[in-house]
Amino acid sequence: MGKDYLKVRIPATSANLGAGFDVFGIALGNPADIIEVEKSDKTIITVTGRDSRYVPTDPQRNTAGIVASLLNKSVKIKIQRGIPLSSGLGSSAAPAAGVAFALNEMFSLGLPREELVRIAAQGEKAASGTAHADNVAPAIYGGFVIVHKDTIIPLYPQNIGIVAVHPEIIVSTRTARAILPKELSLEDISFNTGSAASMVVGMMKSDIRLIGRSMENRVIEEVRSKLIKGYGQVKKSAIEAGAAGVTISGSGSTMIAVCGMNERENIAKAMTQAFLENHIRSEAFITTIGNGVKIIEG
Ligand code: HSE
Repeated sequence: MGKDYLKVRIPATSANLGAGFDVFGIALGNPADIIEVEKSDKTIITVTGRDSRYVPTDPQRNTAGIVASLLNKSVKIKIQRGIPLSSGLGSSAAPAAGVAFALNEMFSLGLPREELVRIAAQGEKAASGTAHADNVAPAIYGGFVIVHKDTIIPLYPQNIGIVAVHPEIIVSTRTARAILPKELSLEDISFNTGSAASMVVGMMKSDIRLIGRSMENRVIEEVRSKLIKGYGQVKKSAIEAGAAGVTISGSGSTMIAVCGMNERENIAKAMTQAFLENHIRSEAFITTIGNGVKIIEG
C-alpha cells in the first residue's frame, strides 16, 4: 500500500577511504539531511537549513528532482539540509538517495536497493559530472559499502570511531576529479590494491588499527591534499592524538580520521587546532559508522 507523505533522514557519507577511489563508502552517524516528500501534480523543491541558498531548486538541476523525474513521479520535496555543501560528505548524494528511497516506498515500486543506488547515482551525476555510487550506496545501505560495477556489498563494522573535520574550504568534486592523473603506474596500482584488500578485512573484523593502516594510498590523497591548506599538519596532529588513519573524505575538503571511540574528542581538538594554526576555521563531527536512510515519519 502506498503513502502520500514520507519524512526520511539521510546520513552524510564519506567516499574512498583512501585507496577505494569510487569503490568504498561509509555512512556516518551524523550530520544528516531530513527530507519530506509529498505526492503532488507538479515537482516543487524547497530547501532550508545549512548552505541552502546555494542549492538549486529547479527540479532539473537538483539531484533529488532529477531522481523524481527518472522515476516519472511528481512530488513536493522539502529538503532540510544538515550536511555541509561541497564538503566531501555526500551533500549532493543524500537528497538523491533520500528521494529514491522515499518514492520507492510511497509508490510501492518494489525496486531492490541496488536499483535505488543506480537511480540515485544518475541523479548525483548532475552535480559531479560522473555517476559514481560510492556516496549514494552507503546513504541507502548504511555501514561500509563496496561498489564494484553492478555488485554492491555492505558490511557493518561495529564501534568504529570517526572524526570528520570540515574546514572552511570549498572543493568542487569536478575540480578534484579533473586534477587527478589519468594513468597510474603499476607500482601505485599494486599499492592501492593492497590497501583496498586489507581495508575490507579490517571492516570485516571491526579492526580499527587495520582500517587505519589501510587508508594509506598512492597518488589520490597526495594530489588532492594540495587543495586543502594545512593538510599535512592536520593529518600529523590527528595521528599524534591517536588516530589509526587519516585521509580525505570523498573529494574533500573534509578530512576523516578513524580511531577508537574514546579517542575522538582529543583527535577532533587536535585537528581543528591544527587548521586554526593555518588560519582556517573548521567544524568537527564526532561520530561513527552509522545507518542508512530511515523513515522518521509517515
Ligand atoms: N569518489 C568520488 C571522488 C567521491 O573522490 O571523486 C566524490 O563524490
